[in-house]
Amino acid sequence: MNAHDSEKVVGTLLAEGYTQVDEPELAELVLYNTCSIRDKAEQKVFHRLQQFKREAGKGKVFGVLGCVAQQEGERIFERAPHVSLVAGSASYTRLPEMLVQLEAGNRRVTGLGLDTEEAFDTPYTRRDNPHRAYITIIEGCDKSCAYCVVPFTRGPERSRTSESVMREARSLAELGYTEIQLLGQNVNSYRDPSAQGWDFATLLAKTAEISGIRRVRFTTSHPRDFVKPIIDAIDGNPVLCNHVHLPVQSGSRAVLKRMQRLYTRDEYMRRIEWMKNARRDIAITTDIIVGFPGETEADFDETVRLCEQIEYESMFIFKYSRRPNTPALEYGDHIPEEEKTRRFLILQERQRAIQIRRNSTYVGRIEEVHVEGFNLATEQWIGRTTQHKTLNFSDPAFPAPSQNGTLVGQYTNVLVTRSGPNSLAGERVKAQ
Ligand code: 5AD
Ligand code: SF4
Repeated sequence: MNAHDSEKVVGTLLAEGYTQVDEPELAELVLYNTCSIRDKAEQKVFHRLQQFKREAGKGKVFGVLGCVAQQEGERIFERAPHVSLVAGSASYTRLPEMLVQLEAGNRRVTGLGLDTEEAFDTPYTRRDNPHRAYITIIEGCDKSCAYCVVPFTRGPERSRTSESVMREARSLAELGYTEIQLLGQNVNSYRDPSAQGWDFATLLAKTAEISGIRRVRFTTSHPRDFVKPIIDAIDGNPVLCNHVHLPVQSGSRAVLKRMQRLYTRDEYMRRIEWMKNARRDIAITTDIIVGFPGETEADFDETVRLCEQIEYESMFIFKYSRRPNTPALEYGDHIPEEEKTRRFLILQERQRAIQIRRNSTYVGRIEEVHVEGFNLATEQWIGRTTQHKTLNFSDPAFPAPSQNGTLVGQYTNVLVTRSGPNSLAGERVKAQ
């Protein structure tokens, strides 16, 4: 979502007559898009701001965008006095106006409102990837997970009309994009605000019918709103990628309750069952937080057991990080940092073994990949399977990009010959 926000900002700037430079040192205006989901991400911004200012900042104008901007607001001007613009993502519709103020020499320009009704729907998005495009369908979050700063930094949930989403998806197909990724903090809570009233499963099925679109992905789903029709849609159309990222956060019933996740372990497991029983082989991935306040050794064991039972295709593991304005901050029993690290490492190791095992089952299979790039160091093409696995491959008939063209952007079949914990490798299979 963050990367896509940057694409929107770049598009807006270009439309305002700005040009983009290749090296940050050459820029006159430097904007930092920021994330405040965990403390480390936030610290990084201030560190980079200081460093860049010292090394190359003379005469430049600086802005801080995104969730750290929203969270810290005008305090950023005090902490980093060379910053002239502070704007959260809900205010980007006002960006052209803010740029005018900057150009007029205003040195404290802010966009911190959260009350915008519109989902950010700019015609000016400048996409980085010519084949795969993100489309925001819903912004903000109405849940209130006890650890999470997002409802505070991104404001309440608002869905875009299905007509607007479909218009963007069709125009992307016309521009030659073949893969789209629908985005939202809780993408599956989508509810069409227009009279048409589509739910998420319907929107998903409809985008997959657009001529020219070969793959549709979506992220991130909340288990509470993850209903069976979503799986039926995936089963019904292979254009919908068979990958679902469904963050569980914890395998302990008690921790889930204290996290205010709004589902029980059993309810989560039911959704996993639906996926395991689907006709298609759906890859399931997740997010886990270890060391949430009050998480006992027994709670943590339940998380490990859940992961071993489900055998996720991959996962992101995070150590709980205290965030401002969140209920968990006030909870007792915060877990010491070393203990969080210990749990993190245990889970990471268990998951690594699971991934080695799972990935080895792909050896001998032929998988279709969307080619994303070429790795000069290994001289292999980089592809992604529909399940979002990285599959690196070679092709003796087309060993590297050349004047004759490139495989990047194409779809091709690859025979998987090797596997590791994080990726697969293989040989291109020529079309029969
Ligand atoms: N500490 C650690 N991890 C967090 N996440 C969100 N907030 C926190 C926090 N305070 C993780 C969740 C979420 C992912 C995007 O980031 O696992 O799914
Ligand atoms: Fe944060 Fe929970 Fe909303 Fe996800 S659902 S953005 S974790 S509050």
